[in-house]
Amino acid sequence: MKIGIIGVGAIGGALARKYVANGHDVKVANSRGVDAVKEFAGSIGAQATDAQGAVDGVDAIIISIPYLGLEKLPEGFLVNVPSHVPVIDTCNYYPGVRDPNIADIDAGKPESLWASERLGRGVIKAFNNIEADALANQGKPKGTAGRIALPVAGDDSVQKASALALVEEMGFDGFDAGSLQDSWRQQPNTPVYSTDFPLEDAKNAIASAVQGVAPKRRDEFLAGAMTFWEKYPTPASRTEYFRVYNATNAASAS
Ligand SMILES: NC(=O)c1ccc[n+]([C@@H]2O[C@H](COP(=O)([O-])OP(=O)(O)OC[C@H]3O[C@@H](n4cnc5c(N)ncnc54)[C@H](OP(=O)(O)O)[C@@H]3O)[C@@H](O)[C@H]2O)c1
Repeated sequence: MKIGIIGVGAIGGALARKYVANGHDVKVANSRGVDAVKEFAGSIGAQATDAQGAVDGVDAIIISIPYLGLEKLPEGFLVNVPSHVPVIDTCNYYPGVRDPNIADIDAGKPESLWASERLGRGVIKAFNNIEADALANQGKPKGTAGRIALPVAGDDSVQKASALALVEEMGFDGFDAGSLQDSWRQQPNTPVYSTDFPLEDAKNAIASAVQGVAPKRRDEFLAGAMTFWEKYPTPASRTEYFRVYNATNAASAS
């Protein structure tokens, strides 16, 4: 399979590395042009390109950049991408910390719906609710007890099926979490966010989310984020924290 990845940081880099290892033909791009991504691409066996090159002639596209970057991608760069190709959006909105405020999202528009409008094409939301460390290291063979499950939201069933297969390849149980309009259920500080639940628990977490609560919890979380990383230095301690903190946004807790 040919896979184009825009953004090769913690998330995009982990995805690129694994898909190359699995035998896929992977092209990678960052914000600074082909030369700037050559070293990383060479180190994992991918091909260095730019944003346009990453989406030309591929079977799947992954965009894994800060929200601000979505506004800087080339105008119309997805226009020739065939309709069956998923554009997977791993991105999360962190206003006031990393991202500028976006009025539509602050007013309640699901983040990936806003991203779709910016890109002029429906995206598939996936890989946004797992920490980079778990994404890189916690994938397990299908059937392993406790295997982490990841929600996949989007409007096109063919694209979603491709995205689910790519989640499976990373070693996780992908499951259909509904439409893009529903995708607020997996945004930052919802019950399924950074909680590494197995399948049934992850489905319950998606179902229990209460619309409008998570952004408030996110902002409270971000206000204390500096000390958070000192208090919870290990991935396991952070997962435990998020299971409790994010559950206060669940229907059963309200
Ligand atoms: N880190 C996590 O644990 C985690 C978990 C789930 C989801 N996410 C979300 O996934 C996205 C990526 O996160 P990350 O932690 O991987 O970020 P990161 O480590 O900061 O890496 C960001 C990458 O995006 C590239 N980039 C930025 N603007 C770009 C543009 N306009 N065009 C092309 N490439 C661009 C950067 O390239 P340059 O170096 O050239 O600028 C870099 O390769 C974010 O939206 C984040 O919220 C993160």
